This record gives sequence, C-alpha cells and structure tokens, in this order.
Amino acid sequence: MSHAILISNNEVVNNLYEVNLRAYVGVSVTIKKNLAGAIALMEQVPHVDAIICFKELNEKESAIEKLMGFLDEKSLRVPVIVLGEPAGKLPKTISLRNRYDIKGLLQSMAKILQITAKDMAEKSVPKYFPIPIKLFASIEQSICDIYYRTEAGDFEYEYFKIIETGKEVGNSLQKYLDEGVETLYIDANYRLSFINKTSGVILKELTRTDISAEERVELTSQGMSIVAEEIFESDEVTEEIAQISQACIESIQSVIQEAPSVKNLLKMLLENKGDFAYKHSVLATYLACGIIKNISWGSQEQQNKVSFALFFHDIYLVPLFKKYPDCANEEDFLFRSDVSEEEKTIVLEHAMLAGRLVKTFPRCPMGADMIITQHHGMTNGQGFAVNYKDDISPLSKIIIIAEDIATDILARLKAGDAKKIADNDSYLERLRERYKNHTYKKIIEAFREVAL
Ligand SMILES: [Fe+2]
Ligand SMILES: [Fe+2]
Repeated sequence: MSHAILISNNEVVNNLYEVNLRAYVGVSVTIKKNLAGAIALMEQVPHVDAIICFKELNEKESAIEKLMGFLDEKSLRVPVIVLGEPAGKLPKTISLRNRYDIKGLLQSMAKILQITAKDMAEKSVPKYFPIPIKLFASIEQSICDIYYRTEAGDFEYEYFKIIETGKEVGNSLQKYLDEGVETLYIDANYRLSFINKTSGVILKELTRTDISAEERVELTSQGMSIVAEEIFESDEVTEEIAQISQACIESIQSVIQEAPSVKNLLKMLLENKGDFAYKHSVLATYLACGIIKNISWGSQEQQNKVSFALFFHDIYLVPLFKKYPDCANEEDFLFRSDVSEEEKTIVLEHAMLAGRLVKTFPRCPMGADMIITQHHGMTNGQGFAVNYKDDISPLSKIIIIAEDIATDILARLKAGDAKKIADNDSYLERLRERYKNHTYKKIIEAFREVAL
C-alpha cells in the first residue's frame, strides 16, 4: 500500500481526507500534528509517497520551507502537496488553491502514484473497511451496518455488529468514544456511499471566519449536491439537511454581497467544478438581490427569501445536470433523445416538486414555496410558460428575469463571447421582447442598475 503523511491538526478534516485517500486511491495516511512530528517519522521511515499539508503550516516559522530544506538535505524526492495556496507561490510543491478540493487532491495523488480510475475499480479491498469513529459523529442514521472489531488471536479478528442499517448513530456511539475506541468498521461495499454522506462534515467548516470566497463557493457547491442527493433519496428535509442548506444559503449570500460585480463572481464560479444547476443559482441570486436593491419596494427580507428560493428552486434537476453535464439550460432536457420520459416528467414538474418540498422545511420563509412553484411562470409549477402573465407573485417575476439573464451570461461565456457580459443594455432588447407586461418592465429597468 502507498503511504502519505498528512500534517494538520484539524481533526475532523484530517479524518475526512484520510478516509478519502484510503478509499479512492488506496493510500494509507499517517497524520502528524506538526512539522516536528512529520520529520521525526521520516527519520525512521524516509520513503513515503507524498506529504500533504495546509498552507497554515507555513504561518508558523515558515514550516513548509523548512520541510523542503529537510527533504533536500536528505536527498529525498518526496512530492509535497500544499492545500490552500495558489500554484507557483511555493517552489517545488504541488499547490491546490482550494483547501476543500478533495477531488483535486485525489487526482494529484493518483498522478503521483500513476494509477488510473480503472486500476482503482479493480483493486481488491478487504471485507471490512475501517472508518475513524469521529466521522460517524456527523451522521444521524446509519446507511449500513457498523461493526466493532476485537482481536481474537495474532492478526485474527472478530467483527461484531453494533449498529444496524437505518438506526440512529449518536447514542450508541458514546460508549465506544468513552472507551477510547478510534476506529469502527463497515462493509467495504458501502465505503464510497458512506464517504459521500460524511462530506457533510466539511460544511461545519463554513462557520470558519478565515475561509476565502473561492472556498465558500466550493463548499456550498458540495453542500448543494449533498442536499440534492438526500432529497432525491427521501423526498423530505431532515433537520441535518435543513442546517446544511441554511449554512449554504447564508454563505452564498455573503459571497454575493462581497462580490463587486458579476465578472468577479464568474471568475470564482469558473474555478469551481460545479454544474449548471449550481452556477446559475448563484448567479441568479446575485442578480435577483441586485434587482431588489434597485426597486422601490425592495427589502432585505425579500433578498433573504429570494436567496432561499433560488437555492432550492432546481434541486430536483441537480442529479440530471450531473448525469447530462453538457446540458446548458433547463429546457434543453426536453429536446434530447437520450433523456428518458421519466426524467422529462421530472423536468416538467421540478418547480412544483421543489415548492412542495420546501413546505416541509423547518423555518421556511413565508411564501418561499409559492415563489419556487412559480419560477417558470406557471401558477401550478408544471411546465414552462410561453407567455409570461401577471398572475404570479412579484418575487417570482424577479427570479424569472434574474434566471433568464444568468442563463444568458453562462451561454455567452460558453460561446466564447465574454466581452459583452458586463454591458447591461445588451440584455434589454431580448428581455423587453419576451416579457411584455408592464410589471416585468419595472424589474427590467431595475436590472439596468445592477453591477455586472
Ligand atoms: Fe433554474
Ligand atoms: Fe427551474
């Protein structure tokens, strides 16, 4: 097995990275809290495949430079991956600008080890897969049986089922935490789906004060995927999912408030690997809040309502945009022959479904369900309007205009036509043509003042 050292003292993040590296690229990870610990280990075991650390390590006495010096002195050619640093800032290291870019980390590691996705799929894994006990803490219900291991003899182990699939995890875990147990086991077949669930723990990171806007964009895009997956499975909003959603919505709001223009926001969105569902939602949130700020009856409360609505409005389309990543807008699905009839029905009904869903959301802002239901101009949330009428709520109209512009911006980008994006007037002709009613006109006028 390949071996890497991870230098970090953020316990939750450590466990998550460790388990991802082990499950996806077969790397066993030793965690060291500081540079001294890592160097002491390498004095004993100099041949590791990689050293992974966070940029914060350098804040203490230029530890990363010291590490490079140590490797040089010992003539060790060990790749060093620094998380959170732009490329090129620290010579001879592999930098990943975003600390939460787990996919990027796995890709770098696979490259170092020269392994392919096929290699990984064919790799045999033992029947039981170890998971650090702390990772179970973020899970309410177990998605698989959880086992405790005891030693029955030299290198012989017995596994006891302690928590069954679907059972509550919290209380049952305490006993083992009290005993100082560090690792529990699950059936290896469930390892990847289990890890996807625990990705929720990084959302706790959203409460940190030292994360950059780019990192917020990455975390919230992962957050939206988690929420969509959960909803797809259970069609209801649990307290856990409500909390993750709330953290994401607030985080997106803080990103758009700080973004001076659409151009600036686009730069961040383009770095993110998220799909159309995520990108157009964030862009539309920026535009809709900008319109509300410039409209006489606009208020902060409405901005919050619209941000909430836009996070959920296409949540049922998230899995479809993942499945068909080349789809460039929502109506595209309906015209494709590779999209099944069943999937097309979801597309036609996604506004209604999402509106119905958020009604079950604890602390759903008043009227947000209606705004979501009407976001394609249909009062019942089924289908896409051709003629936009006056029979829907004013905030729905704002969302419709904001989404229309967001889709246009992303299409212009895709077509390599980035130059005209910042020209507000270049959107007007089409908007006026499409939304003729005078109530829409006021919204279109307000958009002219939004910084692009
Ligand atoms: Fe949408
Ligand atoms: Fe939609």
